[in-house]
Amino acid sequence: MTGLNTRASMNKNLDKILPYPFERLAELLAGINPPQEKKTIRWTIGEPAHASPEFVKKVLIENIDSLSVYPMTKGSDELRAAIAAWLSKRFSLPASTIDPDKNILPVCGTREALFSFAQCAVNSGPDALVAMPNPFYQIYEGAAFMAGASPYFMNLEAGTRFIPDFDAVPPVVWQRCQLLYVCSPNNPAGTCLGADHWRKVIEVAHKYNFIIAADECYSEIYFGEPPIGLLQAAQTLGLTDLKNCIVFHSLSKRSNLPGLRSGFVAGDAQIIEKYRLYRTYHGSTMPPPSQKASTAAWLDEEHVVANRKLYTDKFAAVLKVLNEAGIAVEQPEGGFYLWLQVPQDDTTFARRLYQEENLLVLPGSYLSRENDGQNPGYKRVRIALVAGLEECVEGAQRLANFMKRL
Ligand SMILES: Cc1ncc(COP(=O)(O)O)c(C=O)c1O
Repeated sequence: MTGLNTRASMNKNLDKILPYPFERLAELLAGINPPQEKKTIRWTIGEPAHASPEFVKKVLIENIDSLSVYPMTKGSDELRAAIAAWLSKRFSLPASTIDPDKNILPVCGTREALFSFAQCAVNSGPDALVAMPNPFYQIYEGAAFMAGASPYFMNLEAGTRFIPDFDAVPPVVWQRCQLLYVCSPNNPAGTCLGADHWRKVIEVAHKYNFIIAADECYSEIYFGEPPIGLLQAAQTLGLTDLKNCIVFHSLSKRSNLPGLRSGFVAGDAQIIEKYRLYRTYHGSTMPPPSQKASTAAWLDEEHVVANRKLYTDKFAAVLKVLNEAGIAVEQPEGGFYLWLQVPQDDTTFARRLYQEENLLVLPGSYLSRENDGQNPGYKRVRIALVAGLEECVEGAQRLANFMKRL
């Protein structure tokens, strides 16, 4: 029989997907024995480490019996109502703009939604482009490939405050663009799109008729004014139908609930309707106890304010240590990362820092791709300030000592 020794072929797009940055980091650090007298400090993974709110855990447990029913793709009415109330208040949207039945879809965290959404937004083909910042959350790139498109990278550079230079994108690219990912507050750079940036993005998305997917999962961790969101910007421009505008929000960072896998997608009703239909097949519905717990979390703001204060205090303490040591690094506008410039190749830096200080950071070049003759993550590392304040200050001291020796 022919074919006995060959495997069935799989989707060729899988060959384009690269290992996740943490797999590459594990390889990079293999064989290193860090000093055992120093406790390992992990500044690598962006996993919130503050405590989950007790009241949310209580609701989850109290509703455990609801596991006996199948959840609906669109989520419960009360969950969508709670999300609509939060979204409208947070982004100053009139009640008439957000209809919980038409503009909102609960999802199991933004990661799966950012990924699956591309399959709905993109008509695959050799011309199809999905634009995204560079560095980026790696899901955007994988989503583009698996949707049968190619990624188009917009380098984030210090000169443009790590905001994509939308004006520099050639019209021929916008013509081929079917989906644009933006991330504000940005992972890893911590910058936020302002009203003018959003206006530009919306104008170009309307002119060339593509969808904007705004990843706003860090929107509640900020250190000055609350960041403006895409729907807010659209509303301000008078676009009450939110045409081509879709936002992604999550409880993972806002409420320290990464394990709950809870978020939502909101925006243009026609797009949401098609995405809902897709998700009935996709089958990724939120378990009923999680829906109850999520409803409680979206309805409460007190724990979000307290959480933000923890980050504010932590950033102040860490930046004091680093700045006093002469390390030029600024407070981000939002998110919980520092995008630190380092004086040598970022992979060598990360290896040595682990070897000498038992401190783990992510090489910047693992979060970005070579584009336009450069990798914007080269000579940068991403620091995730997710641990407790004391541990972060200890990490800052180790980093300062290490950089002094370089
Ligand atoms: C930029 C960005 N978007 C989305 C996510 C996914 O978050 P979740 O799936 O927990 O909502 C993350 C998680 O680290 C992220 O950094």
